[in-house]
Formats: sequence, structure tokens, C-alpha cells
Amino acid sequence: MKALVLAGGSGTRLRPITFTRAKQLVPVANKPILFYGLEAIAAAGIREVGVVVGDTAPEVMAAVGDGAAWGIEVTYIPQDKPRGLAHAVVIAEEYMGGEPFVMYLGDNLIKDGITGLVREFDVSEASDAHILLAHVPNPTAFGVAEVDDGKVVRLVEKPAEPKSDLALVGVYLFRPAIFEAVNSIEPSARGELEITDAIQWLVDHGRVVTPHVIEGWWKDTGKLDDLLEANRILLEDITTEIEGEIEDGVRIEGRVRIGRGSVIEGSSRLRGPICIGEDVRVVDSYIGPFTSLADGVQVLGSEIEHSIMLQHSRLESVRGRVTDSLFGVGAVARTSASTPSANSFMVGDNSEVEIAR
Ligand code: G1P
Repeated sequence: MKALVLAGGSGTRLRPITFTRAKQLVPVANKPILFYGLEAIAAAGIREVGVVVGDTAPEVMAAVGDGAAWGIEVTYIPQDKPRGLAHAVVIAEEYMGGEPFVMYLGDNLIKDGITGLVREFDVSEASDAHILLAHVPNPTAFGVAEVDDGKVVRLVEKPAEPKSDLALVGVYLFRPAIFEAVNSIEPSARGELEITDAIQWLVDHGRVVTPHVIEGWWKDTGKLDDLLEANRILLEDITTEIEGEIEDGVRIEGRVRIGRGSVIEGSSRLRGPICIGEDVRVVDSYIGPFTSLADGVQVLGSEIEHSIMLQHSRLESVRGRVTDSLFGVGAVARTSASTPSANSFMVGDNSEVEIAR
């Protein structure tokens, strides 16, 4: 069994963050989303992993390297444009060499990993495709499956009127029949070769497509709300680990992780679960639950909770608590001391700023 990890795409729903970085490399709980997937693949005992890369190839390759960090062997498969998930399968045919494989979308997070599923597929030799499904409140945002009597009967990509609430999770297990399917379908209305259509092709041609409805949580981290929720869910499981320095007078409640070289000073108060990276400075500030501060972040005289701050971003004397926010690398928010008292911005393309009343 091999794995195919999709780490291309343009991440339009996460701009402006994705103007400068691959969406799969945005960290949640201070670790790139993609790394959780690679860990799950390695834990399932898979060693050979093809990683499909697009425009952000250099960045993904720099972060993942040859895969040795996970005990896997990574081969990069370049995709010239985001031509769809099924197109990624088309270009991976040679690499797969006739073996069954798990396809894992690099922006998906699955709580329970994939070990059980891989085992399940291994023993169900009759299955050409094993698809993961999850009940969701908003099926129009996903590929949707109709299941009848334990069999998948119909799949529709982002239907306007969904026939069920079962969304396709971004993890699929395939046997080589999928190659005939991806080479037979036509591009969809959005101009992409949809994996959903390829699986429907298997159903239409009498192949066996089996469903597995997952019970644990799953997140497609394509949007800000999903990223913050994934961050929250992952922080729920952290344990206290303090390598940084905490000055007298600082109050800490709940579970916090603080990396090397970080200093928490003054009248600061930390209320976990919180994940703080290395060389972070927190001075006279409140860091509330479900917040991840990456390496080099500074929070000075401010309050923040349920948020993610990427490397070297900074909050300085910000009035009012910051919540549900994502700060890009090096982004700064501060209260100005000058007169007149006015709001002043330099925000990137597609940025969003919400100011408290
Ligand atoms: C893709 C698939 C969709 C699936 C989703 C899961 O959508 O096309 O069927 O439900 O991933 O993350 P995309 O995120 O590319 O819009």
C-alpha cells in the first residue's frame, strides 16, 4: 500500500494568508496541517508516499523534505495547474505501480487517524474504492454521497440540493480500477477532473464502492472558521509542558505549553489550553483559551483568545480583547499613541478587519 498526498491547490478561501504560503502549511496548534496527515500515514505503516505539489512546491518540499522525519520515503509529483483531485490521480499512476493506495487531501485533519481504515481496506479485497463519509450540517460545501443498504449508490460534488448529509471526507482508499475511471471522466463545470465523478464512474460500471462513516471529528481546513475550530479541537488534548520562563506575578490557569526561549512577564495571565512556541514574549497581557502563538510572536499589553498568531506577528497595546482571529507572519496590530485618535490600516489584499463597536 502506498499513499498519495495532495499538497497543491491555491487556497483561495484562506486569502490573504495563502498569498504567501501553501494552505497545507498553515499551522494549527503550532504544527502545519499537512504534518498531521503525514503522521497518520506513517502510523498506518505506509512507507512510500507520493506528494502532489503545485505552485507552492518549493515551500512544501522545504518543509517535508525526503520524509525521513516521519520514517517515510517521499516522492514529489508536480502538477502544472490545479486541474482537480482526479487529475492528481492521473499523474500518479506510474508512481503507484499497480498497488492499492490511500489518497489524503493535505488540508484535512482526522482525529482518529487512518490506521483502522487502511486495515479494513486491506482485508476487503472486493472493494475498488473505500470512501470516508461524515455527517455534516452544511453538505452543499462538499461532495455528497447517497448510501443505500450499505452501498454507495450516488455521489454528487457540491450539490445545490443535497440528498443526504453525508459529506466525502478528504481520505479515499483505491485499488487500480480508479485509473480507468479518472482517465474516462470529463472536467466538471468548475473545469476540474473531480474525484467524486471518478468514483461515480466506478459505481456506474459495476465496481464495488464501500462507505465508512467516521464517528470522530474531521475538519477540512479550507476556511478561517475551520482552522480556528481545528486549532481548538487539537488544543483540547494538549498537556502542560513549560520550557520557557515565567516571571513571578504571572498567573497561569489550565494547560499551557510554552516553548524554549519564551518569556511571560509582568501582570500577564494565561488561561489554557494554549500553545506557545519558542522565543515568544508576553508582557502584561491576557492569553485566553484556544490560542496558538507561533515562534517569535509578541503580545504586549493586549488580550487575545481563540486565535492563531503566526511567526513574528505582534499585538501591542490593543484596546479590547482580540478573538476569533488569524494573524499572518509578521503582522502587527497596535494602538497608536498619536493624535487624532483614528484607525489606520495597511492590510493585504482580501484581508478582513472587524473593529469592536
Ligand atoms: C474536496 C472534494 C470534496 C470533499 C472535500 C473534503 O473539495 O472535491 O468532494 O468533500 O474535498 O475536504 P475541495 O476542498 O477541493 O473544494
